[in-house]
Amino acid sequence: MAEHPTRIVLVGFMGAGKSAVGARLAERLGYRFEDMDRRIEERTGLTIAALFEERGEKSFRKEERREAAALAVLDRRVVAAGGGAFVHPRTRALLRENALTVWLRCDLETLLRRIPADGARPLAGNRAIMRALLAEREPSYRQADLAVDTSEATPQEVADLIVDLIERRTAGER
Ligand code: S3P
Repeated sequence: MAEHPTRIVLVGFMGAGKSAVGARLAERLGYRFEDMDRRIEERTGLTIAALFEERGEKSFRKEERREAAALAVLDRRVVAAGGGAFVHPRTRALLRENALTVWLRCDLETLLRRIPADGARPLAGNRAIMRALLAEREPSYRQADLAVDTSEATPQEVADLIVDLIERRTAGER
């Protein structure tokens, strides 16, 4: 019998629901949930905002790549990737290793509504900045194995839909 993929990696823009969906998906699958940004914060002892401010984006991307490599050897995980992780080719390749990748797609208006203006996301900007960044990143997100729209659905509905899609894929492999 075909098995579920041992790692599911959720990718997509800030505010798409990667962490909220990831936690629920992990619970349904009986997997552990891993949030890349939280792991980086724990390992470095700095918040993402402080990392950007004190060491710069380039250094943050290096931490992100290191985290993707650490996660690539762990089994039975649901991973919420940071919004830029899948955009960087080496990090993307690591995230794809033995994993099913899922793009949580979301329209710009919903994303803007969901992102709090609390300074925790250094790259969050005004509507024009976000529109440009999203357009620049979409070709990368498109490289995920599956795409699920999260604009109108609750995190639990998205998680349930992903489980259905995985089961259909797994059944197709038998
Ligand atoms: C980033 C998204 C953030 C975080 C960092 C950079 C990005 O993660 O990794 O602020 O480049 O889009 P979320 O997508 O979880 O907000």
